[in-house]
Amino acid sequence: MRLLLIALISLLNNFAWAEEPWGTVDLQAAKPMHDKACTSCHIRMYGGDGSKMYTREGRVLSDKLELMQRVAACNSQVNSGWFPEDEGNVAAWLNKHYYHFTK
Ligand code: HEC
Repeated sequence: MRLLLIALISLLNNFAWAEEPWGTVDLQAAKPMHDKACTSCHIRMYGGDGSKMYTREGRVLSDKLELMQRVAACNSQVNSGWFPEDEGNVAAWLNKHYYHFTK
């Protein structure tokens, strides 16, 4: 019985993980990192605080995985020195504030 319960819980955990490509995140760490490394080009293109990049008409992203990939692609253009977790944090933060993807 106990084993079954443990198996069930770990199965549920797996589903939770599968839903979030970025896994466990630290959203508080994300904003300062984003504001430091990620706004220069976006502001140059769209003005303001650059966030129009994330809300513009015809933006191309359609789910969390694509958001992750875009963050990684942009990050690779700058020498930010970020770890993969940092990309995950920022992707999750962007999703929370701008994209609101549920999958
Ligand atoms: C070297 C300039 C540059 C830097 C620095 C940069 N970006 Fe970008 N970013 C771009 C460009 C150019 C696009 C638009 C690409 C396109 O239109 O396909 C873009 C698009 C994006 C998008 C998709 C916007 C949409 O259409 O929904 C995201 C998300 C994004 N960047 C995240 C980041 C993050 C996170 C960082 C910091 C690690 C970052 N960017 C740093 C140039 C940059």
